[in-house]
Amino acid sequence: MFSIDGPIGVFDSGYGGLTILRGIRKLLPQYDYIYLGDNARAPYGNRSFDIVYQFTLEAVNELFSRGCPLVIIACNTASAKALRSIQQRDLPGIDPTRRVLGVIRPTVEVLGQLSSGGHVGVFGTPGTIASQSYDIEIAKLYPDFVTTGQPCPMWVPLVENKEADGPGADYFVHKYISRLLEADPKIDSVVLGCTHYPLLIDKIRQYMPAGIRIIEQGDIVAASLCDYLQRHPEMESRLTRGGTVEYLTTENPDKFNDLAALFMHSEVNASRL
Ligand code: DGL
Repeated sequence: MFSIDGPIGVFDSGYGGLTILRGIRKLLPQYDYIYLGDNARAPYGNRSFDIVYQFTLEAVNELFSRGCPLVIIACNTASAKALRSIQQRDLPGIDPTRRVLGVIRPTVEVLGQLSSGGHVGVFGTPGTIASQSYDIEIAKLYPDFVTTGQPCPMWVPLVENKEADGPGADYFVHKYISRLLEADPKIDSVVLGCTHYPLLIDKIRQYMPAGIRIIEQGDIVAASLCDYLQRHPEMESRLTRGGTVEYLTTENPDKFNDLAALFMHSEVNASRL
């Protein structure tokens, strides 16, 4: 099959994947990237499997049509609900030389080094937690671990309404941490299993008891991608190296740019898809 060179595609339901892109660009600034946020149809967190799968497949095809040989699904909900089907069912028919990777597996892989006692908590959207994707992946790699999921339906709206520093955030961060620790008082590590949650990190640190490790995904996914490219020179050689980022959103670009700057810690100039 004809193989083309191009940028790395990074997809998210909206803004959250920008925390992953930031981590990836810090480690791998030499490549070109296209970020696609499906803001017009976000959030995905409460949507059904079928719909998240359909939207994610559309996004992957869009990024493929723009020449990306490799796409990172930088959204836990989409990784949980769509990645496996796309990898196993769709990709062989679309173009078996391209790759689609997610964020859950790389996060789970490092838990063995990060968890001191094998009691792991996972914060995520209702969709991610209901899918039990973390529980399943953790059980495969670490059968002795105890995994407890805690849905946090209010955390994404708090971030998107710029209330991450407000009193509402205190209430809901404290509430979900307490619930998790009531469910398993032995928890030693918690995964922020949603790409928005790093924006609540100050509050999460404030209410998390000392000694419990808080695991953010940006640097972990970046290190995993770096390792993947070293092990797959046939893919690495297909990536263009201009150091650029193109931002695409399905919503109004001005609206996107405003909040995206908070996630990227720098100005963003998006175009409408
Ligand atoms: N990006 C999503 C995730 O990581 C959260 C936002 C949404 O619900 O669409 O799960």
